[in-house]
Amino acid sequence: HTSPAGCPVTERAAAFDPFEDEYQQDPPEYLRWSREQEPIFFSPKLGYWVVTRYDDIKAIFRDNITFSPSIALEKITPTGEEANAVLSSYNYAMNRTLVNEDEPAHMARRRVLMEPFTPEALKHHEPMVRQLAREYVDRFIDDGQADLVDQMLWEVPLTVALHFLGVPEEDMDLLRKYSIAHTVNTWGRPKPEEQVAVAHAVGNFWQLAGKILEKMRLDPSGPGWMKYGIRKQADYPDVVTDSYLHSMMMAGIVAAHETTANAAANALKILLQHPTAWREICEDPSLLPNAVEECLRHNGSVAAWRRLVTKDVRIGGIDIAAGSKLLIVMSSANHDERHFEDPDLVDIRRDNSSEHLTFGYGAHQCMGKNLARMELQIFLEELTKRLPHMRLCEQKFTYVPNTSFRGPEHVRVEWDPALNPERANP
Ligand code: HEM
Repeated sequence: HTSPAGCPVTERAAAFDPFEDEYQQDPPEYLRWSREQEPIFFSPKLGYWVVTRYDDIKAIFRDNITFSPSIALEKITPTGEEANAVLSSYNYAMNRTLVNEDEPAHMARRRVLMEPFTPEALKHHEPMVRQLAREYVDRFIDDGQADLVDQMLWEVPLTVALHFLGVPEEDMDLLRKYSIAHTVNTWGRPKPEEQVAVAHAVGNFWQLAGKILEKMRLDPSGPGWMKYGIRKQADYPDVVTDSYLHSMMMAGIVAAHETTANAAANALKILLQHPTAWREICEDPSLLPNAVEECLRHNGSVAAWRRLVTKDVRIGGIDIAAGSKLLIVMSSANHDERHFEDPDLVDIRRDNSSEHLTFGYGAHQCMGKNLARMELQIFLEELTKRLPHMRLCEQKFTYVPNTSFRGPEHVRVEWDPALNPERANP
């Protein structure tokens, strides 16, 4: 094997396969060799350069002109003719949103659409998040066992996401199916026989997004970020375009929902696997904000992101040609010992946890990061207060095979309901 730069590809670089279970289970461990020996390498299986160290990845995020985000939502695995025909039969036309928009269009749009993400605006959502978290816990607190993903951590962030966007809460089951299909379509490697089914789901998602948008246009008053966008379109038609609104309606549901649902599942898993940390946050909730950051660092829900190189450049000592594609693995950066001391340790008091790159960095840094943080904080507050005695069941954690969106599909827990604190102090 040789890379496009002509260098021979090492055996480990040739073997790198982010659709394999080993990557899914523990991306930073799977890439330890790279951080140590070959911090940027060409993956022939993927056709991407893979970047794994903290400083290199941060520098890439910092320069969104040299490293364009335009490929962020492209299919990482090109699909066959049949699947492509299915997608076009739905007029599928996912295009630029914010996350994959270049300058200067990106900043103009981000500015116009920022207001609903300010701390002031986010405060309004807090009581709703709290109430949802309580209601979902009420449903299983006396059962002595639960799958936290199926019974809480998937649906609550979906409901919050829909509220935030202003989308009616119909079709939640359908949306769960569609958004997983979108993840597989964008960041996965569906087998030829799966591609067609995925294409139908993605096509249907696209059409549903269009219908929701049409309905919203009839009356764009009231709360919700997408309605806000429609209202802004009247003043800034060249900034908030029709194509943007349709693409964002679909991408936004995924961006606001799956990322946070996975982050919550990752956090519960990692904290319950570290009983001392769990006991400490149960006893002292003031530790929670930093524990949330440490979970996002140690076990983040967006494992890797993509950039397109727009001019010849040097990264990690290697010349990379214009036109190259990069897979930047933030979950590896977050375990780089050059930046985080003893990085594999879960340390809820770590003083630089929040320097993780799970939300990206720079001009495109996640706009929803504080909404996500609020949700994670509230889920942990409710669960540590009401079920401090829960523990993980014996189980094997499974993941949807893809490069980027990462969280266990199930987190099964058990406890003795007779010991629920609410029974002692009703
Ligand atoms: C962008 C991660 C939750 C909305 C991003 C990016 C990442 C990310 C990695 C790209 C950053 C870059 O290119 O530098 C996450 C994670 C979340 C989360 C890990 C949960 C734990 C949310 C939520 C929303 C949201 C709840 C809310 C609606 C957005 C938007 C962008 C974005 C609009 C595009 C920003 C831009 O390009 O200017 N997110 N996200 N995200 N995220 Fe999130």
